[in-house]
Amino acid sequence: MSTHNHQSPCYSRDLPSSPLLAWFRRHRRDLAWRRTKDPYRIWLSEIMLQQTRVAAAEPYYERFLARFPTVEALAAAPEADVLTHWAGLGYYSRARNLHKAARQIAASGTGFPRTYEAIRALPGVGDYTAAAVASIAFGLPHAAVDGNVLRVTARLTCEPGDIQNKPTRERLTAAAQALLDPRRPGDWNQAMMELGATVCLPRDPLCLNCPFHNDCVARQQNRRHELPVKSRRHRQVQIEKHLLIIEKGESILFWQRPPDSGRMAGFWELPERGQVKGAVEGPEAGVFRHTITTTNYTIRVRRATLRRVPQGFRWMKRAELETVPASTVLRKALNLA
Ligand code: ADE
Repeated sequence: MSTHNHQSPCYSRDLPSSPLLAWFRRHRRDLAWRRTKDPYRIWLSEIMLQQTRVAAAEPYYERFLARFPTVEALAAAPEADVLTHWAGLGYYSRARNLHKAARQIAASGTGFPRTYEAIRALPGVGDYTAAAVASIAFGLPHAAVDGNVLRVTARLTCEPGDIQNKPTRERLTAAAQALLDPRRPGDWNQAMMELGATVCLPRDPLCLNCPFHNDCVARQQNRRHELPVKSRRHRQVQIEKHLLIIEKGESILFWQRPPDSGRMAGFWELPERGQVKGAVEGPEAGVFRHTITTTNYTIRVRRATLRRVPQGFRWMKRAELETVPASTVLRKALNLA
């Protein structure tokens, strides 16, 4: 937790807490992970929601828990099985860290960690996730500050600094911590996230629906569209890839990324142009775009034929693909053919 307590020029200290919780009681979405106090389930939901929207995460959450209902079940599973159940959610280091952390917890023999510091020490858990799990599962008073909460807090306090700068984020974290209702930290944090996701929207905030309507300094000063300040834009990188669909009967040719080969290690892939000697390219089956953080991929998919299968490749039927790690790009490519 940050101990910084700088004051921004127009920081309003005494925002009442109850209107937010009253608003949350009325508008709270009924989400699967809000029906449990099991720290394992809450932790899983927070890891999934780090880079994935609620609507996309929900079905994965249910399927993952059906297969790995406890931290011990997750710890006992092979990594490939965990990745297969994560396949399609992206950012696979989340799944690898989750698995590693589950093994640590199971090996400790003392159950799920119950303090902020011990949760924060798990692989894949940062300040935000530790605060979310500590507050929601154990009622510990730590403000969970994600991108949504940064935006809400920047507007509430009329924060003039760039939210990509560390001192600004520390100031906003301290402000969020000062606002937190220590009697209901889990609900408070989820209410702040919900407000950011449904009302305090990035472009056009719906201020008339906001429980902080009368207290928000950005609204009072009519600066809600200027905030949060974000000067540095990440440059987007454009990459074009050509994937080949080579069929034999009902099977398609794939290769597997070796272990320890980085982000997508262990995943099955279609061959890329130039990767298989002697491939004769046929017509284009289609094109699609796929974005991963700041990289925009244009994926061109072609059918191709081949006389002899080189080493390192394997024929697989589509149904078999459901049982191995397969990325969203691969699924999208196969849907074109
Ligand atoms: N985003 C991150 N954590 C969340 C939660 N617990 N509920 C809704 N959205 C979230």
